[in-house]
Amino acid sequence: MSAAGKESKRVLMVGLLCQDILNLVDHYPTEDEDVRCVNQFWQKGGNAANSACVLSSLGETTEYLGTVSSRAEGSSALKEMQTFGVLTEHVVYSDCPIPTSCVIINTQTGSRTIIHGTRNMAELTAEDFSSLDLTQYRWIHFEGRNTIEVCKMMEIVEDFNKKVVSPDDVITLSTECEKSKYNMGDLFPKVDVLFVSKEYAESCGFASAKETVKKLLKRVKKGCTVLCAWGDQGADGITPEGAHYHCQAFPPEKVVDTLGAGDTFNAAVIWGLCRGTGLEGALRMGCRIAGQKCGQFGYKNLHS
Ligand code: ADP
Ligand code: FRU
Repeated sequence: MSAAGKESKRVLMVGLLCQDILNLVDHYPTEDEDVRCVNQFWQKGGNAANSACVLSSLGETTEYLGTVSSRAEGSSALKEMQTFGVLTEHVVYSDCPIPTSCVIINTQTGSRTIIHGTRNMAELTAEDFSSLDLTQYRWIHFEGRNTIEVCKMMEIVEDFNKKVVSPDDVITLSTECEKSKYNMGDLFPKVDVLFVSKEYAESCGFASAKETVKKLLKRVKKGCTVLCAWGDQGADGITPEGAHYHCQAFPPEKVVDTLGAGDTFNAAVIWGLCRGTGLEGALRMGCRIAGQKCGQFGYKNLHS
């Protein structure tokens, strides 16, 4: 196993890199209306890619892993991610158009309406993942998608963890249950940190972040921390021992763009937990940085 200390190891974010086309409008259009946007810009998107950029900006050595279009628009999204300092040397290329989201940002409210096209991009497989040298990583976060393959990838990490000698070499595993359409329950027994979105929580019938973390704690493995972000209500978290914390949101002067608020929250929480802030500190960090993000377009210049 590696002799390197935990601090010198990487955080790996596994999941989607896509193209986001943001249309900024001063009111939400009605069906069949012909509107001009007040601004339009392209930026890289995808939960794992967004979180990787935020983590890297906060000073964590961060790598992104996923399938990437080998066409011009794929390289441009990848380059954009590299400008945040994200390492990308293990990505898997595919000759396929880049998955693309058309996003309507209502600048009056900051709301983001996303229409996403996968454009048949293949998902990362456990076979792709198996070629990594896991001694390089301290934390691996899997975006909650293609659950069957993600389950196999997590098993590779679990096997690795069973063999390590020093506790410093154990890799922390996390995932996010974001979309209700993925059958994420299979991942619950595997992760050390579980992020749950409001959308997923509501699809389970939970009415608040507090209820979500308390009820899901009973379904995760022993030792797992559960967090749930709830938009402008902030977020809640629960330790494996059952200590519950709530943190209020940090509203910016004006909310202009909430796209990727959850991805930013996850990144800042991971950053905090890697630095030993404990759950309460990490929740605060998550809400503070996500609040900053909501007050600006994109992910540049977020700071701790
Ligand atoms: P998602 O992007 O997954 O929908 P949420 O909307 O739950 O994520 O937001 C994640 C975090 O971002 C929240 O816990 C909160 O801290 C922050 N946040 C979201 N919306 C706002 C807002 N309107 N004002 C301030 N902070 C916000
Ligand atoms: C934000 C985001 C966007 C992307 C969409 C994919 O959380 O990652 O960047 O277009 O979600 O679902």
